[in-house]
Amino acid sequence: MPPKMPIKRAPLTWADDIVTGDVDLDDQHREFYTRAQKIVAASKAGQDIGELAVNLEFLANYAEQHFAREEQLMAEIKYAYAETHKAAHRSFRNKLAEFLNTPYTILTVREVAEWTSDWFMRHERMVDRPFIEALHSARKDAVSD
Ligand SMILES: [Fe+2]
Ligand SMILES: [Fe+2]
Repeated sequence: MPPKMPIKRAPLTWADDIVTGDVDLDDQHREFYTRAQKIVAASKAGQDIGELAVNLEFLANYAEQHFAREEQLMAEIKYAYAETHKAAHRSFRNKLAEFLNTPYTILTVREVAEWTSDWFMRHERMVDRPFIEALHSARKDAVSD
């Protein structure tokens, strides 16, 4: 049996209020979200399971690179809430890894892609945003020194 994923069925749309103003991280966030949505759409359109699996694994790698970039920036600015933020990344990673280690079906791929988009939007609003604010003020301080 594949692991149970907490699924939220509300329609997921990209909203401008999650734009952070950091160009690199915003691009990564948008790319990640777009890819997750493409997987959801492809699974609904009956795309081949092999193709879906490749896309989902690509998404997992992309998340890995993105988390690594954020965590590197957290270390650079000695971000006060780095440990909590890293724990959130870890829990996402663990859930996704758990899924990737079980046999895929179209339905579970779709559920995971939906869960991923949902997790991502919430994480960006609640956890990334305060970090990006701290990053901006650290950069501002560095310029005015
Ligand atoms: Fe992020
Ligand atoms: Fe994050």
